[in-house]
Amino acid sequence: MELEFKRHRRLRKHATLRNMVRETQLQPSDFIYPIFITEEQDKKTEVSSMPGVFQLSLDRLNEEVEEVESLGIPAIILFGLPHHKDETGSEAYASQGIIQRATRQIKQAFPDMMVIADTCLCEFTDHGHCGLIHEGDVLNDESLELLAQTAVSQAEAGADIIAPSNMMDGFVAAIRQGLNQAGYTHIPIMSYAVKYASAFYGPFRDAANSAPAFGDRKTYQMDPANRREALREAQSDIEEGADFLIVKPALSYLDIVRDVSNQTTIPVVAYNVSGEYAMVKAAAQNGWINEEAVVLEKLTSMKRAGADLILTYFAKDAVRWITKETK
Ligand code: PBG
Repeated sequence: MELEFKRHRRLRKHATLRNMVRETQLQPSDFIYPIFITEEQDKKTEVSSMPGVFQLSLDRLNEEVEEVESLGIPAIILFGLPHHKDETGSEAYASQGIIQRATRQIKQAFPDMMVIADTCLCEFTDHGHCGLIHEGDVLNDESLELLAQTAVSQAEAGADIIAPSNMMDGFVAAIRQGLNQAGYTHIPIMSYAVKYASAFYGPFRDAANSAPAFGDRKTYQMDPANRREALREAQSDIEEGADFLIVKPALSYLDIVRDVSNQTTIPVVAYNVSGEYAMVKAAAQNGWINEEAVVLEKLTSMKRAGADLILTYFAKDAVRWITKETK
């Protein structure tokens, strides 16, 4: 009697056929590229734990944005390194703050580049926390007003999208109300709705000089052990008016990306964070992995998990690699 079984390999026989049945394709418009901006002058300083990622001064910024635009990447997200930090993070909402100046400069030179402003206080406070501090506690409601003020000043400077990353309760509601009252009803909010208290943010805190001076972020960012809580966070941000949801980090949280994207109808963004970047770079520099193949596999897995957009330090390389592959 003849053995009966399925021949799955039929569809894998030829490269062209494999392309025809490929379910997930990366494209340049999938990506958002992060940029760190320093208030110093004539600086392009490589972040030691993130090879290929630089802190750029305003006079070096346009060359970077030009490269991003020429690759067909539609959006950048900005992080600031202010020269002055204080208790209330006042440079986050100053009209001449580093993010506000950078945004004006970029929008003037590149009107079609979508500028996303990360709305948080940790890069601007001397204690490095994402909200106001009282007796060692990160205050929630008292921080909301400053976050709304930050968002409004970013919108005033020309930011196309506001991306609050501070994880205070009610931050989307407060920012939506602040933007609306200032006449920015049309500016979307990309909420870091599901942000875990992750050890993978280490290199970012080197890059942005934003490590908390005491304690950690566990009273506002989520416990990596929790899944249902992610759905509650996503739900409340949607109800408060979020237009996009970010899940962060990405790689160790692809189950969460899948759950969130199943549960919502608004676009989902996976944030492939600094530690995830650093690990791949380190292994690649040691010759232990094939960087291009590993990166494209990882990014494809994020899209396969349900991400509509991917925020990644690999964006420029990824676009070079995918456009080369299809040629
Ligand atoms: C600001 C912020 C952080 C990251 C993005 N926005 C740092 C943090 O929460 O400590 C991390 C991004 C990365 O690691 O790539 N709150």
